[in-house]
Amino acid sequence: MSEVANPLELNPPILMKEPDYPTLQEHILSHRIFESELHGLTHWKQVERNGLLLATETGADVAVVRLFALFHDSKRADDGFDMDHGPRGAEFAKTCFEEHRFDITQEQFDKLYHACKFHTTEPRSGDATIDTCYDADRLDLGRVGIKLDPSKMATTFGTRIAQRSLDDDVEPGSFREWLEKNQNAFRQPQPLRHSEQP
Ligand SMILES: [Fe+2]
Repeated sequence: MSEVANPLELNPPILMKEPDYPTLQEHILSHRIFESELHGLTHWKQVERNGLLLATETGADVAVVRLFALFHDSKRADDGFDMDHGPRGAEFAKTCFEEHRFDITQEQFDKLYHACKFHTTEPRSGDATIDTCYDADRLDLGRVGIKLDPSKMATTFGTRIAQRSLDDDVEPGSFREWLEKNQNAFRQPQPLRHSEQP
């Protein structure tokens, strides 16, 4: 009888260690070129929260989203347009990846790099993880006094939240609180598990 090869032995799963986000955050903070209020740590944390909310529906890769939150504005030189800060943040992420400061697959890194590089110039990419990164950032535009435009969101979930914020006439300055308070209402109803069936 011929032996059937175990596919797991031929293609062992790649086991990645969860990135050490607090240590990485300290490293990134210590390598800033500008201490920003508008694009600093408070914003990075909000982008992470937004991304985790969006990922519940978009199916985005959460590790990439959390790393994007840390890196995307990490190399801002000022709080103005600074059109090159995305590519600079992407290159810094590359340096940190090559220094093994976090451990993700090359495919994950390619998405992180793309999202950081193009987050201010590409409306949407067609990739769920990258588009979730874009919307996680856009959902925090209220802090700079900008109302969301549903047509400029990259994901269906982000578009729905943006539309609701217009329907509810949310002031940009209170967007974070509004989102926090209402986030459960934005989630699509999940199908009942078997044990919950009436
Ligand atoms: Fe940002």
